Amino acid sequence: MIALGSDHAGFPLKEKIKKYLDSIGVKYKDFGCFTPERFDYAVAAQIACDAVAKGECDKAILCCGTGVGISMAANKVKGIRAAVCSDYFSAKYTRAHNDANCLCLGARVLGEGLAFELVDVFLNTEFEGGRHKTRVDQI
Ligand code: RB5
Repeated sequence: MIALGSDHAGFPLKEKIKKYLDSIGVKYKDFGCFTPERFDYAVAAQIACDAVAKGECDKAILCCGTGVGISMAANKVKGIRAAVCSDYFSAKYTRAHNDANCLCLGARVLGEGLAFELVDVFLNTEFEGGRHKTRVDQI
C-alpha cells in the first residue's frame, strides 16, 4: 500500500499519479490534500509519512511544487528516508542504495510522463542491502 500526499501545488500531479497507479494495479491510500485550496506541505508530509512510519503503508509518494519542501518535512518523521528525484538514475539508486521509503516529486518541475517513470522505478527497485545497509543504519 502506497501513501500519497501533497500540498496544493502538488495536488494536480498527485491526482495524475493516482490514475497512473490505478492503471498499473498498485494500491494506494490518499492522505490529501483533496482540493486545490491552500494546504501546507509540512502538514501533508506528516500525515502521509506517519502511515509509513506506523507500518500502515509500505512507501510514500509526495508532491509539492518543487518536491523539496515536502521532502524536508518528510525527513523529519522518524523512520522516513525521503528523496526528491527528477531523474531516473536517482530514483533507482535512492531505492537500491539508500532504501528510500518516500519519493518526493515536483509538480512544477516534472512532466507527467517523467513523473510516472520515476514512480515506476522507485516502486520496482529493491534495496541492495550489504554495505548499503551499514550506511543506512548510520543515518
Ligand atoms: C507552494 O507554493 C510551494 O512553495 C511548495 O509547493 C513547494 O514547492 C515548496 O517546497
